[in-house]
Amino acid sequence: MDYFDYHRGTLFCEGVALDRLAELVGTPAYVYSRATLERHFRAFSEALIGTPHQVCFAVKANSALGVLNVLARMGAGFDIVSGGELERVLRAGGDPAKVVFSGVGKTAAEMRRALEVGIHCFNVESAPELDRLEAVAMEMGVQAPVSIRVNPDVDAETHPYIATGLRENKFGVAIEEAPALYARVRDSQHLEATGVDFHIGSQLTRIDPFTDALKRVLALVDELAADGVELEHIDVGGGLGVRYRDETPPEPDAWASALREVLGDRPLKVLLEPGRAIAANAGVFLTRVEYLKHTEAHDFAIVDGAMNDLLRPALYGAWQEIVPVVPRSDTETRTYDIVGPVCETGDFLGRERELALAAGDLLAVRSAGAYGYVMSGNYNSRPRPPEVMVDGDHFQIINRREQVDHLMMRESMLPRDPEDQD
Ligand code: LLP
Repeated sequence: MDYFDYHRGTLFCEGVALDRLAELVGTPAYVYSRATLERHFRAFSEALIGTPHQVCFAVKANSALGVLNVLARMGAGFDIVSGGELERVLRAGGDPAKVVFSGVGKTAAEMRRALEVGIHCFNVESAPELDRLEAVAMEMGVQAPVSIRVNPDVDAETHPYIATGLRENKFGVAIEEAPALYARVRDSQHLEATGVDFHIGSQLTRIDPFTDALKRVLALVDELAADGVELEHIDVGGGLGVRYRDETPPEPDAWASALREVLGDRPLKVLLEPGRAIAANAGVFLTRVEYLKHTEAHDFAIVDGAMNDLLRPALYGAWQEIVPVVPRSDTETRTYDIVGPVCETGDFLGRERELALAAGDLLAVRSAGAYGYVMSGNYNSRPRPPEVMVDGDHFQIINRREQVDHLMMRESMLPRDPEDQD
């Protein structure tokens, strides 16, 4: 459920008409709904009432300070994958004691900073990473909290680029290798085993791969307990899918009951790392039609937003719904390819969409609150769009539109050659 709806023929986000918003902030632009973010966060935390838990929002999905701050105020923890994300969480008022640090390539500097601010746990993804973490903790005279990310080798049945729980993927350590790593942690003065972690992939639409993975990881937890390694938490990752088109992903409460059932009465705190399920349908990407171009093969709507702003369609062939902000009935419906101005054939936001359009019309690409702005770039020297947060009848620009000057701010040219004439 989200708070984007039509009223009197115009698409609103909460109490704000998106055509009015677009006039004030320009296009393209990302627009988020605070009420939707809060509702989705609550869906997870309420589904787990009665089970000790911490929801750690996956910052990679949407790292706007304004978004992180809304979630931090609700008590969210955060799943980070870089030093940059850690600084964002701290700046947004997040509690470092509720931060888990995932990712296969943590640098010593990132580890140092995370230890300095006192994060909850490192999700360690390899033996050499464990060695590095131990060295850094020793140098600082502290003990690093460790959770080993195990790779349960299950097929998450999702797009190959976002499946992470198969043996052939770069993530985590094989489940059979985990006991040796926990033994290593137990024998170190500078490491402390606090948990175990897995994440099998993103945009999961079925529960079984998740519960299969959970069962395998719990078998490991039981084996470790028998060896005297008592863990405090299990981090079940993120990955719960959303409806982009006609998918029917499980709701957080169905997912939570399946989790509870498999978990049984083990006294483990549950950590979870949802990103997309909280943010995707809390955002839209607004873009305006610049030109309609009718060719023999296709009808194109050329819009002012492009793959540099919203990469998912071009990168994964992802389908996101595209709707008119003010639907019109005075012109015929055609099958349009919605394309941007970037010089790549792959620069499209949607293909073969039935729409009635005229130049100047405003479109909203739905489900753009996760993996939208965070994956944007400056290809073709295009400044990135602003991010706007709607809160009831008000909105606030939480990230101003980038200007062309910003793009060149850190650049320089070589000094003049001595033989150059004035
Ligand atoms: N935890 C870990 C360790 C992850 O690798 C990810 C996502 C998450 C949590 C959050 O997953 P979520 O709940 O958002 O599915 N750019 C792609 C998605 C990449 C996801 C990578 N890892 C896309 O646009 O579909």
